[in-house]
Amino acid sequence: MKSIEINIKEALRFVNADKVNAFEAAAIQGIANLNETKGAGSDFHGWVNLASETTQELVADINATAQRLREACDYVVCIGIGGSYLGAKAVIEALSNSFDAYMAPAGNPKVLFAGQNIGEDYLFELQNFLADKRFGIIVISKSGTTTEPAIAFRLLKEQLERQAGKDAAKSLIVAITDEKRGALRQLANEEGYTTYVIADNVGGRFSVLSPVGLLPIAVAGHDINALLQGAIAMEEATRNPGEQNIAQTYAQMRNALYADGKKIEILVNYNPKLHFLSEWWKQLYGESEGKENKGIFPASVDLTTDLHSMGQWIQEGERTIFETVLSVEESNHTCVIPSDEANLDGLNYIAGKRVDYVNKMAEIGTRIAHVEGGVPNIRISIPRLDEHSLGQLIYFFEKGCGISGYILGVNPFDQPGVEAYKKNMFALLEKPGHEEATAAIKEKL
Ligand code: PA5
Repeated sequence: MKSIEINIKEALRFVNADKVNAFEAAAIQGIANLNETKGAGSDFHGWVNLASETTQELVADINATAQRLREACDYVVCIGIGGSYLGAKAVIEALSNSFDAYMAPAGNPKVLFAGQNIGEDYLFELQNFLADKRFGIIVISKSGTTTEPAIAFRLLKEQLERQAGKDAAKSLIVAITDEKRGALRQLANEEGYTTYVIADNVGGRFSVLSPVGLLPIAVAGHDINALLQGAIAMEEATRNPGEQNIAQTYAQMRNALYADGKKIEILVNYNPKLHFLSEWWKQLYGESEGKENKGIFPASVDLTTDLHSMGQWIQEGERTIFETVLSVEESNHTCVIPSDEANLDGLNYIAGKRVDYVNKMAEIGTRIAHVEGGVPNIRISIPRLDEHSLGQLIYFFEKGCGISGYILGVNPFDQPGVEAYKKNMFALLEKPGHEEATAAIKEKL
């Protein structure tokens, strides 16, 4: 089975190998921390061996629940936000037909998402859409108390009970939450929903290979066993420090670039199916490293689309950026550009070529232009978009993130800053228990 690979040649033009090697000792320490469950945030190291420790019983159980939902529903709404949504969304988008949402659901339920915003129009339109549909719900919240998914769940649960009947609704709702704590756990226990547990030692943004990601991915019809196998292969490949450890290479390189003034990392893809993989990656790295007034700002573009909007800035804007390019080696389908006798569009010079060939030329041309324009380039090649490769990629980025955060000197596994907006929102909403904060914030209005 081919593995994902990293190429840092076009980044080493900007920072020499000595500067990268200067981070080797810290990277080795980071890997040791992860292997031996020590260092800052070690109580959240559960993701490190999550894939290899997932039992076949759990996989079979998740697949059975997925099958039950697939048979009973045309639409399954996945409710969650942040780490309780982005991983599943990323994998489903990467593996599904781009026009899946427009296809008839027969035998293959569509996975929809809610609770990832507080958009009133979004929720209204979703409820309207589901009004005459057979639907089910997977509600995901580690804490079980997050406001956005709680609102969406309250609305959709009431609708499902109304449409399907209270008893039937119980079998159409699955909750994924903490084993004991939180409002969702209590509600799920009282209603008798099927539940899965998010382990205490797995943080939200590292949870895609737990039931949080696996159940929605299985409902969408993808092979979660192959996804896990890919992750296990990468667990093994990145367990020990050394030149062969691509997560270590990535972590050292990006820290060397950061130390050299490259404050923004742009994750670049040349495949629209990877748009949400970038969104997942942004949370992973942003929430893990953006602390103590430091951390690379994670940004992303979809190319070549965004070359027609962001291309100018990347080529000639402030030179504080570097690119990490996701390049898929093999397309899953073939599309050949036809010849045209009139050739009015002048495209006959590429007639007979595959669309992917043109895309690859765009990637190479863009890389040369951006490197010449002062943008270091890290390239990650992915054999093809399938479950095994995505499992590898997910684990590669998780491991790279853990090592990189330790090199940076932060706790990569907490997110104290996420609480700030919640406190203010609760104060403004006058949530019971927040009276003092309500009074204080009103002074500021
Ligand atoms: O990574 C994280 O911890 C966060 O992004 C959470 O996943 C997000 O805030 C949702 O939290 P919860 O799953 O508790 O509802």
